[in-house]
Amino acid sequence: MSERTIALVTGANKGIGYEIAVGLGALGWRVGVGARDDERRAAAVEKLRACGVEAFGVPLDVTDDASVSAAARLIEERAGRLDVLVNNAAVAGGMPQEPTKVDPATIRTVVETNVIGVIRVTNAMLPLLRRSASPRIVNMSSSVGSLTRQSGTAAELTTGPVAAAYSPSKTFLNAVTLQYVRELSDTNILINVGCPGYVATDLNGFRGVRSPAQGAEIAIKLATLPDDGPTGKFFEDAGVVPW
Ligand SMILES: NC(=O)c1ccc[n+]([C@@H]2O[C@H](COP(=O)([O-])OP(=O)(O)OC[C@H]3O[C@@H](n4cnc5c(N)ncnc54)[C@H](OP(=O)(O)O)[C@@H]3O)[C@@H](O)[C@H]2O)c1
Repeated sequence: MSERTIALVTGANKGIGYEIAVGLGALGWRVGVGARDDERRAAAVEKLRACGVEAFGVPLDVTDDASVSAAARLIEERAGRLDVLVNNAAVAGGMPQEPTKVDPATIRTVVETNVIGVIRVTNAMLPLLRRSASPRIVNMSSSVGSLTRQSGTAAELTTGPVAAAYSPSKTFLNAVTLQYVRELSDTNILINVGCPGYVATDLNGFRGVRSPAQGAEIAIKLATLPDDGPTGKFFEDAGVVPW
């Protein structure tokens, strides 16, 4: 088995996921670049390697059981274990998404990727994570999933447009994360949720105000927590996000 820390980042071909791969690679880690499109994955791996990152491509569509199983087999063959899983892949589902007008198909698509996709990938990778001395799971969520912030007074709202699919998908993801924390409380796996802030990426038509590298910082922090670090918490750069 490799002495080097092995990480898998889903949706690592662009945006925040790509920058998470850059940041983890800069630590000397081997980074699996999870991406569903062959060309986009190959281009990202090539670019990462050109920056000195020991990157390898992991074909991965988080909505597809066979793809996720194959990804777990590939990591087992390459590394024999997984130290860090960053569940970053997500879709916004297209806006507007007012609850009074939303197409139920949009909600299904967003939940399939942003929630069930994370469950599918996590469960497939869990046997490999259990072989790690210091396993970490980082779920990339969003403060738009914070019920506290969504229900605050207008002045306190920090959180995006009215969205009946994307925002609740992140609330659902947060809730599911806590169920993992409970079930795995007798293990050494640290499982946390991160919000990258409002980042200029494809997800929001590049309207965000932070760079993808800035957005990646919270995931890198949670991926590199010490063994006595927190678990079951929701963080942004400024600190804890209320559920
Ligand atoms: N940008 C923000 O302001 C913001 C704010 C809060 C939270 N976040 C969260 O941060 C994370 C990264 O978002 P981003 O802004 O970097 O978005 P992005 O640039 O749109 O990247 C999303 C990534 O997810 C991948 N993906 C989507 N569906 C997939 C699937 N079924 N299987 C595998 N990969 C899939 C995309 O791959 P393709 O290239 O193949 O589509 C892409 O690599 C997401 O969890 C997002 O919800 C972002």
